[in-house]
Amino acid sequence: MSTDSTSPPLAVAQVAVEPPGQAAGPLLPAADVADAVVSFMRSSPVGRRWDVESAFAWSTVDADRLTEGQRSAVAFITYIEDHLPGYFGLYARRFPLDESVDLDAFVHNRELYHFTVRWAQEEDSHARALFEYQVAAGLSDPARLRIELGREGRKPFTLPHEHAVSLFAYALVQEKATQIYYQQLRAVVDEPVLIDVLNHLSRDEARHFTFFADLVEKSLRRHGDRVVEPIRDVIAGFRMPLADTLRGYWRWALKIADTASYDHTDAYEHLIRVVNRAVDARTDRVDELTRFVAACRTPAATQAR
Ligand SMILES: [Fe+2]
Ligand SMILES: [Fe+2]
Repeated sequence: MSTDSTSPPLAVAQVAVEPPGQAAGPLLPAADVADAVVSFMRSSPVGRRWDVESAFAWSTVDADRLTEGQRSAVAFITYIEDHLPGYFGLYARRFPLDESVDLDAFVHNRELYHFTVRWAQEEDSHARALFEYQVAAGLSDPARLRIELGREGRKPFTLPHEHAVSLFAYALVQEKATQIYYQQLRAVVDEPVLIDVLNHLSRDEARHFTFFADLVEKSLRRHGDRVVEPIRDVIAGFRMPLADTLRGYWRWALKIADTASYDHTDAYEHLIRVVNRAVDARTDRVDELTRFVAACRTPAATQAR
């Protein structure tokens, strides 16, 4: 159990103020973004994609096989996935596709957008799959669930980070943490359709992680020490999405972490691996970054290894 992921912040929660407009550079060359996009697209050819309507045996869901904690975990992750318009909106604001940015930034953003729209479509499928699951299992009914999700979904989603590479590093950690949680939850669940849903979702989150890891790695290779501080900032102030807005988040996070042993700082070691892979000639700044990220992991998580 992680005190970091489950306790309210000691200080009064800072209001995350989002910088306006284009995320700051140094940006990757558009060709580097395009390479990452192609790798991402190749990881989900048509034959391997899935849709909510046909991929799952909804009529066979057996809610009696779910524990109270598992029902609560499903409700929690539905909120997280259903906030997609907030996440997508952030990318639209920080990587504009209009005349507010210069041509180089536009071309960079246009390449990134190829990923963003596919990513959004996949995340939206996650939200729909979990909605459908809750209805099929009788955990909620559609009208009530829509209103409950809407109440949280209309709250703003912002991140305080100035730099593009910070937004990518944030998504890297968040996608990996989500993948790990789905895998841990799947390991304790005994309901076949939920297992199937979690398998599909965790495979997608793994691919999303890989894309963001690719961008962070490319940024370190291109820009070296110049992007170390922006990456460090992400870990220094890390909160999972909705941690500062979802009603009852911290109590709920404690409960879901108990249901499937989970600690979001487990994802930090994946960031350290990306940094180590990217940097051939280590510098003091890079060494300090990896030490810092490792130190931000909760003691229990570190000792468990
Ligand atoms: Fe997702
Ligand atoms: Fe994802």
